[in-house]
Amino acid sequence: MMDTVALDETGEVSEPATRRPIVPDGVVTWAEINLDAIARNVQAIKEFVGPDTALIASVKANAYGHGLRPVARVALEAGATWLAVHRVQAAIALREAGIMAPILLLGHIPPSGIRLILEHRITPTLVEAETARLISAQATHPVHVHVKVDTGMSRYGLEPEWAVDYVRDIARLPHIVVEGLFSHFASADEPNLEFAQRQWLRFQGILQAIEDAGFSIPMPHICNSAGLVTMPEAHLAAVRPGLLIYGMAPSSESVPPFPLRRALTLKSTVTKLRDLEAGSTISYGRTFTAERPMRAALIPLGYGDGYPRLISNRGYLLIHGKKAPIRGRICMDQLVVDVTEIPDVRVEDEVVAIGRQGEAEITAEEVGAWAETIHYEITTGLLPQVVRIYRHNGGYPAPAEGLEQWASYLRAV
Ligand SMILES: Cc1ncc(COP(=O)(O)O)c(C=O)c1O
Repeated sequence: MMDTVALDETGEVSEPATRRPIVPDGVVTWAEINLDAIARNVQAIKEFVGPDTALIASVKANAYGHGLRPVARVALEAGATWLAVHRVQAAIALREAGIMAPILLLGHIPPSGIRLILEHRITPTLVEAETARLISAQATHPVHVHVKVDTGMSRYGLEPEWAVDYVRDIARLPHIVVEGLFSHFASADEPNLEFAQRQWLRFQGILQAIEDAGFSIPMPHICNSAGLVTMPEAHLAAVRPGLLIYGMAPSSESVPPFPLRRALTLKSTVTKLRDLEAGSTISYGRTFTAERPMRAALIPLGYGDGYPRLISNRGYLLIHGKKAPIRGRICMDQLVVDVTEIPDVRVEDEVVAIGRQGEAEITAEEVGAWAETIHYEITTGLLPQVVRIYRHNGGYPAPAEGLEQWASYLRAV
């Protein structure tokens, strides 16, 4: 299990000679998560924003599919000082893993969750009066809160015109300490930054009005990954990147001026080979007919792993560094690829669905395009059936992490 893999000078994974030593027994489909790449991305972001801007690492949605706790630990070791999650159970999972860094809970807290955020010292996001009142009433210690104002997303956030009164009102409540004020960019990843600029101006106006009313907010923040790159003037006291940490840029317009290292590789295995006659049809609904004799390989990857069914007859996988087109409908746990043009494919050969193999690469962006969605959804959508294997300090797996995830999957089923 504990094969080690050297870091090359670029920090990219040097593939081990064989895969078996790093893959838990019996596993045929897995994601390799390069925690060293995540550490380097965090360090690069921190260098870019400078010492006066704190890094709040967004590890929501299971760290965009990369694994909550390993990513959180590495991000903190590499220079993030805060974590952000959307759901209270993720925040508690981090605390239960012994992570004591401040955690910003970005999402709504129902009244039943207040006891939990107090007990686990989680920093709530407030957007209305009732939650603030309930927190104040139940708290026995000072509770640092962040107020979210809506500057243009029309999603979660307080209406800007109420911001000053709101801060004044909640600051009066016992135990409430208004530490942060934040907002969220809707389109800082687009070529036209006019709306992002408008949001930024609005946010500065709100901050100024709050200051003019006699309150100082130590931790204002507005930048997601896109804003961090395209709106450097808006870095403020903290930035809240997600995607960049995992080595991806939100769009071609928001590629940072520092190198990013992709952290996730999705791999599978050839489990069966078949020689099909011309006229054979493949998979449910018979949406593909072989026009000529064809060699088909069965790969245990399907929508039950989070590999989208929309990719049926559209995308390809990599085998021996070559493109193996997906033929027929993707099933829950498996799919079929055409390996007629790839010599010497054997059962047990390694297959790459996202990431590099030899000179070839499939990016999460490409997979997203085949599935008519975005790369965020592709990595976030990887389900527990995909075992995560962690590379840390040049070795696979990170101590206990890969196996911990595997064990938790076994417990869950
Ligand atoms: C409030 C908030 N902040 C920060 C982020 C991080 O965004 P990104 O992954 O684009 O950096 C998100 C993600 O959607 C978010 O909802």
